[in-house]
Parts: sequence; C-alpha cells; structure tokens
Amino acid sequence: MSLQRNSGPASVWDHIEGIAYGGDYNPEQWPVNIRLEDLGLMKEAGVSFLSVGIFSWALLEPSEGQYDFGWLDEVMDNLAANGIKVALATATAAPPAWLVRKHPEILPVTADGTVLGPGSRRHYTPSSAVYRRYAAGITRLIAERYKNHPALALWHVDNELGCHVSEFFGEEDASAFRAWLERRYSTIEALNAAWGTAFWSQNYGSFAGILPPGVAPSTLNPGQQLDFQRFSSWALIDYYRELVAVLREVTPGIPATTNLMASSATKALDYFDWAKDLDVIANDHYLVAADPERHIELAFSADLTRGIAGGDPWILMEHSTSAVNWQPRNRPKMPGELLRNSLAHVARGADAVMFFQWRQSSSGSEKFHSAMVPHAGRETRVWHEVVGLGSSLKRLAPVKGSRVESRAAIVFDYEAWWASEIDSKPSADVKYLDVMRAFHRSLFLRGIAVDFVHPPASLEGYDLVLVCTLYSVTDAAAANIAAAARAGATVLVTYFSGIVDENDHIRLGGYPGAFREVLGIRVEEFHPLPAGGELKLSDGGVSTTWSEHVHLAGAEAVQAFSEYPLEGVPSLTRHAVGAGAAWYLATFPDRDGIESLVDRLLAESGVVPVATADAGVELVRRRAADGSSFLFAINHTRSAAAVEAAGVDLLTGTAFAGTVEAGAVAVIAED
Ligand code: GLA
Repeated sequence: MSLQRNSGPASVWDHIEGIAYGGDYNPEQWPVNIRLEDLGLMKEAGVSFLSVGIFSWALLEPSEGQYDFGWLDEVMDNLAANGIKVALATATAAPPAWLVRKHPEILPVTADGTVLGPGSRRHYTPSSAVYRRYAAGITRLIAERYKNHPALALWHVDNELGCHVSEFFGEEDASAFRAWLERRYSTIEALNAAWGTAFWSQNYGSFAGILPPGVAPSTLNPGQQLDFQRFSSWALIDYYRELVAVLREVTPGIPATTNLMASSATKALDYFDWAKDLDVIANDHYLVAADPERHIELAFSADLTRGIAGGDPWILMEHSTSAVNWQPRNRPKMPGELLRNSLAHVARGADAVMFFQWRQSSSGSEKFHSAMVPHAGRETRVWHEVVGLGSSLKRLAPVKGSRVESRAAIVFDYEAWWASEIDSKPSADVKYLDVMRAFHRSLFLRGIAVDFVHPPASLEGYDLVLVCTLYSVTDAAAANIAAAARAGATVLVTYFSGIVDENDHIRLGGYPGAFREVLGIRVEEFHPLPAGGELKLSDGGVSTTWSEHVHLAGAEAVQAFSEYPLEGVPSLTRHAVGAGAAWYLATFPDRDGIESLVDRLLAESGVVPVATADAGVELVRRRAADGSSFLFAINHTRSAAAVEAAGVDLLTGTAFAGTVEAGAVAVIAED
C-alpha cells in the first residue's frame, strides 16, 4: 500500500539515477580552494545527492534585508556542473543573531519557564507568528532564487523538527494550544468530559483558563498531558506546512520533505500523522555506539521508517561514517560497519544513503563528529570505505524502487506510546517499546521481515500481527485488529493493551476492554512485579515486569503463572476466532520464553524466514514490480557465513557461491 499524500510535485526519484549517495554539505565553513577540491573528491566517491544550506540563514542574510546569495549561487552552479542534485534547505533551523535580538519572543520556553537562548541552534518556537513570518520570508527568497536551478531536486524544510526541544511552554504556545483545543473540542463541556475534570476540581469554565501542563504540586491531568503531546507534535508539522505552502506556490513541481528521527529514541513526534504532509519520507539515524546490538536497533528504526513511508522507498538523509560527538564515549565504527549499516538501510527500503556531513568540520560544536572526508584526509579507512560504498551503491541501481516483502506486522502508534507512559500507571516498568523490541529482535535474528503498521491501517496480507502494549486504541482500530484475526491471521496482543480509549478513559467491565471479546478473556486486576522481580511459569519459564488476574471467557490457557497469589491463572491464552486466532500474553517472558512463543506463532501463521543462513546474518528481501527479487545478506559476525541462495551478487557481479565473508555483505539478484 502507498500513502495518499498531498497532490502536486514530481517524485524526487525521477531526478536521481540509481541509489542516491551523499550527505549534508556545509561549504560555508570552507574557503574556495577547499570547495573546489570537494568537487573532485565527490566525483571520486560517486556522490550524487547533497543537502545544502540547512544552517545558512545568518550567512545568506547577514543583517535584516541584506542578502548574500553569491556563495550559494556558486555552490549550486558547481554542483549542477558536476551532475550532483541538491536537497536545498529553507535555512530556517538556526535563526540569525539579528532576528533574536530584534524579536526575543521567538525563543523557546521550557515547562519551568526557562527561556532557551541563542548561540546554539533550533532556538525558536514553531508557534511564534513572528518566527513563522521571517521563516516564510527567507524560504520564499530561496525558492524564488533557485526555482529553475538544474541542481534543485528536493526541498529540505528546516531540519529535524523537534530535535533538542519538542514541547514549548511560552505565552504564544499557550494560546496556540488553546486554539488547537477549541478546534478539537468545539465546546468546553466536551473538553471537560474528555479530560475527566470532574475529578480533583479541575473543571474549566472556558478555554481561556487553560495552560500547557507546566510545573504543578502533583501529577497533572492525563488528558491535558496527552492533548499537549498531540498539540506539540501538530505545532511542528503545522509550521512545516506553512513553509511548504510557500514552496508549492513558487515551485509546484519540486517535492518537499523534512528529515525525521524515527527510532527507539524519538517519542514526541507522531510521524504516522506527519507522513501525510511529506512528499517523500526522509530519516536520520545514529547508532548508540555502546549498544552491542546496535545493528538490531538500526533495523528497528529502518523498519519503522518504511512503515511511516507506507512501504514506499525512503531517503536515509543522515547517518554517520564513524563516531559521533554527542554520546558519552564516541567510538568509531568498526571496519566494514559503514557498509553494513548503509546496506541494512537499503535492504529495509532506503533508496538514498546520506551522511552528516560531507567534510569533517575544523571548528564548531561538531568538529569531532565523523564525516565522509575525515580530518586526516584521503589516506584513511573512512575515506576508503566511503569510496567503496559509492561504488557498491552504483552496482545496486537495479534494486531502486523495489519493496520489502513481509507477512508479519507490528502495530505501532505514537499516541499509545505517549498515553502508556504518562505518570500514575500500575508500573513504572511498563515501557511502550520493551515487549515490541523483544519480538522485533526475535524476528530479526530469524530473518523474518516485519512491517510497522498504524493501528487503523489495513492489515490485509499479514499472516502474523503483533499488538504490543497498545494501551490506548480507538474503537475503529480495535475492530481492525479483531477483523485481521477473524480473517485468518494469528494475532498476538500483549499485556496493557486496549485498556483505554483515545481520551485515556478506561474501557470498563474488565481489561483489556478493547480486545476482551476477540481474545476470549477478562482481566480482573493487575499484579505488576517488584523492581527486578521474576516470576515462574507453568512450563518452567521465567518472566518479569508484569502479571495479572486473567479469567478465560472462551479462550484456552496455553501457559499459567505458578506463583502465589496467581497459581494456575493463565499467563498465555489462545482464542480461535473465524479463520484465525487471537493470542494474549499476560506477562513479559525472558528471551527463551519469547523464542518459544515466537516458534508457536510462526508455526501457526506459516510465516517463514526469507532464506536460510548461518546465525548472525541479517536477511531481507526486496522485490521489484516485475517480480525480480534481491536478497540482502549482511554478515555481522567475524567469520564467513553460509547463505542458501542462488543468483548473481550485485556487489561483485559474479555468481553467488553460498558464502558471505566475515563482516561482508552480498546482495543477490535471485535466479
Ligand atoms: C542531527 C543533525 C545534524 C547533526 C547530526 C549529528 O542529525 O540534523 O545537523 O547535528 O545530528 O549527529
């Protein structure tokens, strides 16, 4: 399925041959001789696509109304002359000093009233009318100046919206929040009902008295907190839309996007909602160097990005060639990791591979962040790997436009993430992603592709559907999930799902109200475990975090708790419904328990790995519209590994001989 996006521009992919390659290009840091040297190096590396001008406002408009586009003209002309396409930025991600001096009211304010000052970047609130006016102004000038430029392929709007600060608590934010609430609820009575303000004397007489959830003596109203999260995500994409309206007017044929940060770390922004406004999905991803399973987190991010893109190809707008500068200890990537990471993103749907940044800075905050051209120059491992990646990507041109095949789905919802982690819950240990990532990890290790699907979206074609910690769910989404089971899928629902509606009101009559019927169970009371606690299960397994008092109401018990006071109470159930089955997991099994449950679910659903390989080989298949298929086999181990596949390895151009060398990658165009 492809997302229905706003009508208009051509596809960015028409502008670029094969898989796009490049990164953020910040030439304003360098003298002209270096900029000229860059062109030769870009050719050597095979660069075809660059993001330009992201933080350039202060140089383009050094004082209000005084412009200097000369340097950017030269950069754009040189790139065009060298056949390189540009994602040209609106330059709005760092307001210039003169603007802050004149209008300090654009600065962000935190929940405790602290004003975040200039001298860094992203120091504006998206709800500032003044900031929007100035941002739209510079955007229009840039669009007018470069609208017919041959290098222009894509608009890069602002940068990582919501990075550093995603919630804003100033006066103007408060009034934008009130206006948003008024549009959402129309009447104050409807808001009072949704927020349950009859409790704790929180009733409002009008919208005028409502504030963002700032600092208070005790826990704040959960409806207010949830709506402020919705509003804050909306405020950023609404700012994006205002800039895109300008771009559409001037360049109706040029697509626009902004770089997302979809991963296990970004909670604040509802990217499934944002996707409707982006002409192509672009994502930035950085590994946590200290995580021994960082390649699995990468796969989680890439799969989630593909889900946000509705399965369409997407742009990896930023990742790093080696170390970053913002983690506590910034270790370089290991030999070959740059290729493995890049091709893992391609395997999972990226048709563009880009880095922050082209040339490593010699000054400023990010001078210790790796880049495509390192401080030490060309005689470096990083440069050799950058050049090697460029030639590998050229060989992967046939993969462009193909799509990842998957029969398994994980239901993903930012609103459920927000609602499930608002304070005052049965257990602080219930985290939205924990159970989900445990299942994703298991499927990753088995070579089973999985799509992330928004709860109301179609689940047709999926034989296995995982619904993890979907605490809040609408009636329509709950019906959609139940319908998938009735239609023949194996559906697993895990604990603390279906508890509340979209207003965070409990679905009464026994948990999990939204899924009680399809699961054939009723939960009477929650029994979260003490910190670090473990629980024995009837099959000898062990679980953590959660238990609860489950009653059967049509389902059969597959496994039970075996400790006081829940001895004999079901911990895992199965309910045959229609042509499929709905399973319920009432605890968080350890890794062995997850594996044996996944064994059962796969056996029942008939979902199988995309290929057979030795342990440690990441396997993903992309299939083109003409039926041809490409098997990506990424060897994350330090010894050679066997993979059962036949065809031509596109990276070597020779018949695949059944082995992927230590730390290497094969992309097999299958027979
Ligand atoms: C983000 C930003 C970039 C750069 C990188 C560093 O992704 O968009 O400008 O700061 O982080 O990792």
